[in-house]
Amino acid sequence: MRVDGKVYRSIWLAEDGIGVEIIDQTLLPFQFKVVRLETVEQAMDAISRMLVRGAPLIGATAAYGLCLGLRRSGTTEALREMATGLIACRPTAINLRWAVERMLELLLPLPEEQRLALAYLEAGRICEEDVATNEAIGRHGVGLIEAVAAQNGGRPVNVLTHCNAGWLATVDWGTALAPIFKAVEAGIPVHVWVDETRPRNQGASLTAWELVAAGIPHHLIVDNAGGHLMQHGRVDLCIVGTDRTTASGDVCNKIGTYLKALAAADNKVPFYVALPGSTVDWTVSDGVVEIPIEEREQEEVLRIMGRDDHDEVRRVAIAPSATPAVNPAFDVTPARLVTGLITERGICPASRDGLLGLYPERRR
Ligand code: MRU
Repeated sequence: MRVDGKVYRSIWLAEDGIGVEIIDQTLLPFQFKVVRLETVEQAMDAISRMLVRGAPLIGATAAYGLCLGLRRSGTTEALREMATGLIACRPTAINLRWAVERMLELLLPLPEEQRLALAYLEAGRICEEDVATNEAIGRHGVGLIEAVAAQNGGRPVNVLTHCNAGWLATVDWGTALAPIFKAVEAGIPVHVWVDETRPRNQGASLTAWELVAAGIPHHLIVDNAGGHLMQHGRVDLCIVGTDRTTASGDVCNKIGTYLKALAAADNKVPFYVALPGSTVDWTVSDGVVEIPIEEREQEEVLRIMGRDDHDEVRRVAIAPSATPAVNPAFDVTPARLVTGLITERGICPASRDGLLGLYPERRR
């Protein structure tokens, strides 16, 4: 995607073929800063502190993190230890574990001296595949927007999205935003309702920033506004991403997604979830019971970052200093509330049969 006319991905190998470069997403939308990672510890820190975030991107970062770690030691013990450390950085998004396990499967059977070069190749492949996968999600999802547009008599299609599932959350294209980017490319008029997505405001700071950069009409709304807009016919379609989808189609995504799905069901607004196959955790079935929900520090709820009237970026408290907070980062939307899953292989019902129809190799 383009930033000030220059094409970027959210992660790339530095020119020296050693370091890995990322965009520090904690500084957006106020500052665009590229950060170079040189060690596995720096990769872990970038994932934990959310310089990089979004399920597919943290998977890609972990894959490159292993490469960086292998530069120091290529032993099996070191590899296993790094893998465990990386997976623990963020427990909910399955792509992190998926990418690390894919790397281990390739690297562990190899002699130590061959591991480093092949690790870099595999991490590069994970990134390339992610781009192709998300582009395919866009191609499949655009039909949904097109269908609404065909009945709209030229009025823009109003799509509501939660959190950031755009190109910054993946290597490129995004998941939930990919159909929107494709629709705009195809000349279909689209308007996006951007949930601010407390506590970290990924909607306000990242999705809005992406949409501004792409010139796509949008409005920022507080997290509580979606239900009201749906009641008044101002949302045609919801499309969100996911951090882990169960084999039966339950969807775990950024906290607040479940409430939007409830409001959508009550108002008969189609609620779609866009995901790469790597986001399906085939080992779990009941999302509410089985998916570990990351609890992040209370500071994220108690303080908020913004730019003041003097153009200074500050973090300020929004509650009494004696007030404690609880900060679950994700919630689970049961499959019954999901209209369909948009994947790189097509769109399916949010159910075991629906997923197995697209991923028959998962049938036992
Ligand atoms: O905590 P974050 O910002 O990593 O959460 C990201 C999301 O919830 C996204 O919707 C999800 O990872 C899908 S991104 C393609």
